[in-house]
Amino acid sequence: MKKNPKIIVGNWKMNPQTLDEAKRIARGVKKTAEEVKKVITIMCPPTVFTSAVASLSNNRYLYTGVQNIFTETHGAYTGEISADMARNAGARFVIVGHSERRRMGETDAVVNKKILLALTSGLNPIICIGEENHDRDGHYLSVIKEQVHAALQNVALVDIPRIVIAYEPIWAVGADKAMNAHDVHVMTILIRKTIIDLYKLRKQPKQIHIPVLYGGSVDPTNTAGILTEGSADGLLVGRQSLDPKAFSDILRIANAA
Ligand code: PGA
Repeated sequence: MKKNPKIIVGNWKMNPQTLDEAKRIARGVKKTAEEVKKVITIMCPPTVFTSAVASLSNNRYLYTGVQNIFTETHGAYTGEISADMARNAGARFVIVGHSERRRMGETDAVVNKKILLALTSGLNPIICIGEENHDRDGHYLSVIKEQVHAALQNVALVDIPRIVIAYEPIWAVGADKAMNAHDVHVMTILIRKTIIDLYKLRKQPKQIHIPVLYGGSVDPTNTAGILTEGSADGLLVGRQSLDPKAFSDILRIANAA
């Protein structure tokens, strides 16, 4: 059986400050992204740079995403951006429910609404889930299950192949160290099983693959372990995605994993 491609997402967050710098990063990533044929790369710049970055990407190997959309389709919502706008600016993916946005007050219900709107507009949602604490008594297991259930409420089975899950334990985001590969493995299995049970996928005639990515302090030194021992289908990379050299290293390691 042919292996599914790895999915590597670069979340630039609120960086860089100029269009020139955004283009420089995108060009640096593009070169490697188009060489590594076993990897799909998705760059998620700040929304104002979407068109510029998308004009350098959107081919089989390299796509552009946005980091957020609003919960309504149009109208009097000063400062917000709709799913259609993002799609029309060239985005093909959208990060939904990042922990930094949940911290600003985004609830599970809001996350779910954004996912449904993204799907309607032709954007593929990258859904972030993750526990605040990896506590000893295993409470995080039910936290993760509940987040998956809430995010996928009313998402039709036909749309499941368009979903990407990014498991990002909050304590590992922007931290010194990633989660260890063994724990990543346990969590990716739990998340896949949760979705399989929710949609009764074992009973479906066609096998449906749900990519489960890992995010949180990914760098070139931990990439291979998370993808192999950790059995993640890809990575959501923050800080290291702004450095085209480090990010290209991550892409090459993922291609070989
Ligand atoms: P980090 O961020 O790689 O800088 O930890 C990951 C993320 O927030 O998606």
